[in-house]
Amino acid sequence: MFFSSPFKLKKKGIMGMNQRNSGYIGRYNPRRLYPLVDNKLKTKIIAREANVTTPALLGVISMQAEVEGVEQFITDTAGFVIKPAKGSGGKGILVITKIKNGRYYKPNGNEETLAEIKRHVTDILAGLFSLGGSADVAVVEGLIQFDSAFDGFSFEGVPDVRVIVFKGFPVMAMMRLSTAASDGKANLHQGAVGVGIDIATGKAVNAVQFDLPVERHPDTDKELKLLNVPKWERLIYLAASCYEMSGMGYLGTDMVLDRDLGPMLLELNARPGLAIQIANGTGILPRLKLIESLTNADQMTVEERVAFCKKHFAETPLVEIAS
Ligand SMILES: Nc1ncnc2c1ncn2[C@@H]1O[C@H](COP(=O)(O)OP(=O)(O)O)[C@@H](O)[C@H]1O
Ligand SMILES: [Mg+2]
Repeated sequence: MFFSSPFKLKKKGIMGMNQRNSGYIGRYNPRRLYPLVDNKLKTKIIAREANVTTPALLGVISMQAEVEGVEQFITDTAGFVIKPAKGSGGKGILVITKIKNGRYYKPNGNEETLAEIKRHVTDILAGLFSLGGSADVAVVEGLIQFDSAFDGFSFEGVPDVRVIVFKGFPVMAMMRLSTAASDGKANLHQGAVGVGIDIATGKAVNAVQFDLPVERHPDTDKELKLLNVPKWERLIYLAASCYEMSGMGYLGTDMVLDRDLGPMLLELNARPGLAIQIANGTGILPRLKLIESLTNADQMTVEERVAFCKKHFAETPLVEIAS
């Protein structure tokens, strides 16, 4: 059996909510830096300065009077995404994957009219999807064309890779695959599948949907253990460099793999969820403790931190267990 029981998980050093909040987030994430990661537009700006690639920024709408002008940002694109700068959990993200004869289509094939798109932007500005319900701005981004290595692994949406980066060390990773339930977004609470990924190799180790083990993608029937993320080294290198860029000690980085542009950063999270441990079938605490025990962590380069994690946090990929 590939999957661990909750009892086993506990024994393996699972971290709970209180411990995450007081022992890690509270301790390692300076409050004054939160605005940088809680706002996707600000994150894009610091990422550009740090030479960390992000999806193309097509436009920003910050006032109601600009809503009518949204068309200029989206007409000549091969697809786009409109999202609240201060959103989270996939809320308020509109994904348009096809534009034909001036008409817009969502990943499930349903049309979204220009009037509906404008209404969506208005809702974003009003803060309908944003942290604390405060007024927000709408960010228009180019559509990521995902790598063909993920064909069949994700249903109608771009999969992303969540990497937990602790003091600049990429300690644990999970790929999130969208499903019919998650509507073109790869957020677990929306019904995406979470696949634990071996830090050393980029290969699948375990998979869950709604916190329960799964072996196949619910919509495509693809065997999840075959998942193998290409350009893995580059991806975790970029994730690890988000530490210098943001100054946050305990960080969830959402990475995506574009067919042409390779790994890039989608967004940062200062309060990353704990389900990544269930997806990996193992707790994160022993890894965090090991990093905390290092006396020279602050002197290590990004390359050295990546090498350290590949060496110490290797897991046994499913394909090897099975064969
Ligand atoms: N530019 C994009 N192209 C394609 N899909 C995207 C894009 N931006 C976001 N998505 C989809 O929406 C999901 C959530 O996006 P993200 O920017 O991480 O916002 P949130 O803070 O709500 O998680 C991603 O995992 C991805 O599946
Ligand atoms: Mg996200």
